Amino acid sequence: MRQVPFHRPAIGPAEEREVIDTLRSGWITTGPKTKKFEQEFAAYVGARNALAVAHCTGALHLALFALGIGPGDEVITTPFTFTATAEVMGYLGARPVFVDIEPDTFNIDPAGIERALASGTHRNVRALMPVHFAGQACDMDRICAIARRHNLKIIEDAAHAVGSARMIEGRGMVKVGTIGDLSCFSFYATKNITSAEGGMITTEDDALAAKIAVASLHGMDRDAWKRYDSSGSWFYEIHDTGFKYNLSDVHSAIGIAQLRRVEELTRRRQAIARAYNEAFANDPALEIPITEAGVEHAWHLYVMRLRPAALKVDRSQFIDLLRARGVGTSVHCIPLNTMDFYQQRYGYRTGDFPVAEDVYSRCLSLPIFPAMSDEDLAYVIESVRAVARESRR
Ligand SMILES: Cc1ncc(COP(=O)(O)O)c(C=O)c1O
Repeated sequence: MRQVPFHRPAIGPAEEREVIDTLRSGWITTGPKTKKFEQEFAAYVGARNALAVAHCTGALHLALFALGIGPGDEVITTPFTFTATAEVMGYLGARPVFVDIEPDTFNIDPAGIERALASGTHRNVRALMPVHFAGQACDMDRICAIARRHNLKIIEDAAHAVGSARMIEGRGMVKVGTIGDLSCFSFYATKNITSAEGGMITTEDDALAAKIAVASLHGMDRDAWKRYDSSGSWFYEIHDTGFKYNLSDVHSAIGIAQLRRVEELTRRRQAIARAYNEAFANDPALEIPITEAGVEHAWHLYVMRLRPAALKVDRSQFIDLLRARGVGTSVHCIPLNTMDFYQQRYGYRTGDFPVAEDVYSRCLSLPIFPAMSDEDLAYVIESVRAVARESRR
């Protein structure tokens, strides 16, 4: 039986060459490769500053830190995300204020943000942290307008959004990375481009970039790594509280090679999504994901919903039936308000966010990795259709 895993990274000779070159160079931690990765990433998204860090979790933490978010502050975000989005707020003593998602895009609902701000319950909101879910950019025109009206900063959780773009009023089609105050990307193993582990922060604000550069490596001068080469000095100064969030040159080497392939990798994801959409659009048991007009979807995830009324199995059984056919799947996301930590620490309850919880109860993510062969793709389509057919009421 064919086996199609949920994900397999697209690592090839180009990545191997860059890594070997780095390993043989005599410099393996943060250095020239990381600088190059930053420059090439900045050029790719069209951003003024790009700062490479150890992971997107660190990027989000540094972004909040650079904005001065601290104890008692509130940050509005979505419960339909990975825990990292909200977890980092707790690092700084701030509180995540969850707002439910739109039922079509699964992105945070701008009308819900307005309601939360108007409710009078949240008087300490300092920032918005939209998540571009699955690689489909949020409605940033509306979110930016809300931020301007309420004097809030925007940190985009762009973990899923390398390759995403959206029509922005007055600018046309704009890649994610230059819209909010700060954008945080992930290069985790499953992401659209990977460096095994890694992240990047982009910003147009030089002062925020300078602060993040220092904070990402113990509060030292940014070029402290130069102290080991012939142009450097042994002396360094500590300017601020800092963290150990630098990205090594070995990781950056993988990232550089992947970034050079980003168009090819994105096109393959888009082609897989199109094939799934065409195959499942008319199946009475399946709901395909919805893409808004004016969006260039990067398809980090293909999140489909089941129609429970048409099926005699639930989502978990559907996943088990696919697994029995050798098809790996996953579920994105488990709403954070249903999780023990968020209930204990912040008082959230299951039932607080009906849209996110309804999507969660019946969604599954199909394999959508560029290294998937056409035969793998055809096999997943055939398996999903067969399971849906056999499980119909
Ligand atoms: C929406 C979102 N934000 C943040 C992260 C954290 O990324 P990283 O693993 O690079 O820290 C993830 C990781 O899956 C994510 O999905």
